Amino acid sequence: MTIEHTDPAHADLLGAEAVADPYPLLAALREHDPVHWSARYRSWFVTRHDDVLAALRDERFSSDRIAPYRRAKLDGPDADPAVRAAFGVLEGWMVFKDEPDHKRLRRLVSRAFTPRSVTGMTATVEEVAHELLDAVHAAGTGTVDLIGDYAYPLTASVIADMLGVPRADREQFKDWSDQITGLVFGGMGDPSRYAVGARGMTELTAYLSDLVRDHERHPADDLISAMISARDDRDALTHDEVIATGILLLFAGHETTTNLIGSGLLALLTHPEQLRLLGERPDLVGGAVEEALRYDGPAKTVARVMGEDVELRGRHLRRGERVFLSPSAANRDPAVFPDPDTFDITREKAGQLGFGIGMHFCLGAPLARLEAAIAIPAALARLPGLRLTGEPLRWHPVLLSRGMQRFPAQFTP
Ligand code: HEM
Repeated sequence: MTIEHTDPAHADLLGAEAVADPYPLLAALREHDPVHWSARYRSWFVTRHDDVLAALRDERFSSDRIAPYRRAKLDGPDADPAVRAAFGVLEGWMVFKDEPDHKRLRRLVSRAFTPRSVTGMTATVEEVAHELLDAVHAAGTGTVDLIGDYAYPLTASVIADMLGVPRADREQFKDWSDQITGLVFGGMGDPSRYAVGARGMTELTAYLSDLVRDHERHPADDLISAMISARDDRDALTHDEVIATGILLLFAGHETTTNLIGSGLLALLTHPEQLRLLGERPDLVGGAVEEALRYDGPAKTVARVMGEDVELRGRHLRRGERVFLSPSAANRDPAVFPDPDTFDITREKAGQLGFGIGMHFCLGAPLARLEAAIAIPAALARLPGLRLTGEPLRWHPVLLSRGMQRFPAQFTP
């Protein structure tokens, strides 16, 4: 462990060691510099549970971070029109809006994305999981990439199915979603990511626009139709809002849940006593998913922009400055979770912030929990003797999310 890794003064969450294991650095920040100014990222990093919780509930920590960027960088004559249009779609996402615009969108979308629509997906999730595991067996190699062969196609299929995207278009749909990742999550060392992301966004928007028009004429039992008809006595979603929200759900519903299935399986495979316990007590699966979210969840940080000046622990956060609130750090805060670095599927559940909290609390949390609670035990049951291969695991080098690029494993066919 180098000094750069744990010395808050040199904190770099995108350094190689911190990408592989961010927890020592997050612990050092939480303990010694809980409201940390990073000159490198020109941003604040907030790591204590009580501060992250309070900030997520505080409207002065604004979610409206796309429009200011667009105005500053993309309204000029030199800006690429495709990138400007792509950011225009992101601007329509509820997750990037403050009140009252956020509440209006969330209210209408919640009429379509209901708990019943999620429980209705149970059989589909089971079916897709088993199809993918059949394919892993059919390959006959006794090896599997639990991300690429399993978690990723599973979550992509489920959300595409829920939205009402025809099966034949799935591969294309998945490629566009991958391209857009660079726009939303950012990353290092890939200057082409805006151009690639914008192209994916343009094509996906055109595709969904046709699909929405088709659903307007021929409603079906799916989320796009439900969003088209979602209205209350005051309001309804516009055509463009249905498209933008469709892209948000596709995107939010897919990458993060992939990461949760991956890190949940990883935590179990590296804690054999917890794996054994889950085998003996399958009823603990809900606790295992919750603990995976806490112990190594997908939301490393959640971004905000200061809407006003705020003083926090003696530091002055000024209007317009960027802030990363870290659920990953908060979820290992010893002030809230005894023995926080221990993975314990019987742990008292309350308090983890892996889905955020407050007005932007993850709308898809019930779907993510359902998918993980089916996918994790299905893989363990169908891939006997599942174990790591010993190859080093490679993690996505991004600030916002925590997830493996590949998860190679072996099993006894
Ligand atoms: C394990 C998987 C998931 C994790 C860890 C996760 C995490 C989060 C977090 C931390 C937020 C809050 C963002 C903020 O405060 O700025 C959020 C919001 C959101 N998530 Fe998820 N999410 C997951 C799965 C899903 C799924 C499956 C869907 C939908 C299909 C979804 C849809 C959304 C939406 C629409 C929002 C915005 C809510 C709002 O702004 O009111 N998420 N998610």
